[in-house]
Amino acid sequence: MSDTVIGVIMGSYRKDSYSKKIADHIVRQFPEGYATTFISAESLPMYNQDLDSGGNHPQEWTEFRAQLGKVDALLFITPEHNRTFPAVLKNALDVGSRPYGNNKWNAKPGAVISVSPGKIGGFGANHHLRQTLVFLNVAVMAQPEAYVGEVTSMLAEDGSVVGESAQEFLKSIADAFVLWIERLG
Ligand SMILES: Cc1cc2nc3c(=O)[nH]c(=O)nc-3n(C[C@H](O)[C@H](O)[C@H](O)COP(=O)(O)O)c2cc1C
Repeated sequence: MSDTVIGVIMGSYRKDSYSKKIADHIVRQFPEGYATTFISAESLPMYNQDLDSGGNHPQEWTEFRAQLGKVDALLFITPEHNRTFPAVLKNALDVGSRPYGNNKWNAKPGAVISVSPGKIGGFGANHHLRQTLVFLNVAVMAQPEAYVGEVTSMLAEDGSVVGESAQEFLKSIADAFVLWIERLG
């Protein structure tokens, strides 16, 4: 049987992104039978409906949509920008949702992890993202919630996640997501 593939979509493409360090850790927590693949939203041209209607949309959109079509589940890992999720991620959601009637996010199980150096753990980003995902008919895991606050205290200089409670928490999110995917499968 082939692996269940989880597409990981990031809200940050910063070189030293804390969210990416958390993502690199969590993708290693999934059991046998699961594979993960990062689907980059970094270079997607901004969505403009004229390009879809004209039938000459950017190649990057075609590739991104094709990649979404190949995954079984979606894991979003994002920082917070001004109490919501970053524009790069919103653009990706828009690109994947169109052309009308061909929503590539549709009916996939999903989970959201928000990451911040601050104490609130990106709560605003997490919930705004959930709101859009619900509209896009992603079956977003409700519990456990994953607000990774004070992230710098969890990261060693080499970027690895340190501390038993941080490691256990991230493992519990991965385990719960696997159960969620299986329940919906
Ligand atoms: C434009 C901008 C807005 C930000 N707004 C917030 C915010 O609302 N809440 C928050 O916790 N951090 C905020 N931050 C700080 C980010 O959490 C911080 O830059 C973090 O390192 C970004 O995630 P990354 O390390 O994965 O790139 C903001 C940063 C930027 C650049």
